[in-house]
Amino acid sequence: MKPNSVIIPGDLATTREAFVSRLDFARQNARSIHIDIADGQFVDSTTLPIKDWPALDIDYAEAHLMVKDPIPYLTELKQAGITRAIVHIESFFNPDDLIAQAKEIDILLGFAVNPDTDLEHLKSFFDLGNYIQVMGIEPGKTGQPMLPQTPLAVSYLRRIPSRRLVISVDGGVHPDTLPGLRQAGANFFVASSSIYDSGDWVKNYKHMLELVKDDE
Ligand code: DX5
Ligand code: ZN
Repeated sequence: MKPNSVIIPGDLATTREAFVSRLDFARQNARSIHIDIADGQFVDSTTLPIKDWPALDIDYAEAHLMVKDPIPYLTELKQAGITRAIVHIESFFNPDDLIAQAKEIDILLGFAVNPDTDLEHLKSFFDLGNYIQVMGIEPGKTGQPMLPQTPLAVSYLRRIPSRRLVISVDGGVHPDTLPGLRQAGANFFVASSSIYDSGDWVKNYKHMLELVKDDE
């Protein structure tokens, strides 16, 4: 059986104006949002500082930390209304410190993995959390085509015995790539350019929702 699927509008906004319009869209249509945070070091791009965010006021907000040193962000993220912080396993942090800090401030965690990272490295994080974000692109920019190995990475993770992972895909999620990702066993899909880059945002989003609707 295919898992339930949810499409989460992404937000790699560099201006407050872009942030606000995407947040409004997400609030009205999805009740969830994926907010990208880039520090200019882990990736070349930079994003709107957390202190400049408007009030999130949404059911579920996750922050994708494309940063070198994630732990110092957690408290500010929690205060800003983030439910889950998604940390790259390629970033630099002490896993025990990360878990302790997340517990102390009561924020959920997820672990993101870059396309070139050996998935074996991810296994040591399974005991720390079951929410995994597979990158379908090199992180840092929207609008890139999904790398062809992405569904394979998802199905490899989905088939790991005795692990009930929640698998999200971020990057390159598009009407053409969604069915294959879903078939491979992904639960969540982060979508930015396929919603915002052309046409009507609501129509684009609804079209993708139709594609992942439960058909059992
Ligand atoms: C890129 C970000 C993604 C980005 C996805 O590094 O992590 O969340 O917004 O953009 P699309 O959907 O255009 O690939
Ligand atoms: Zn992201």
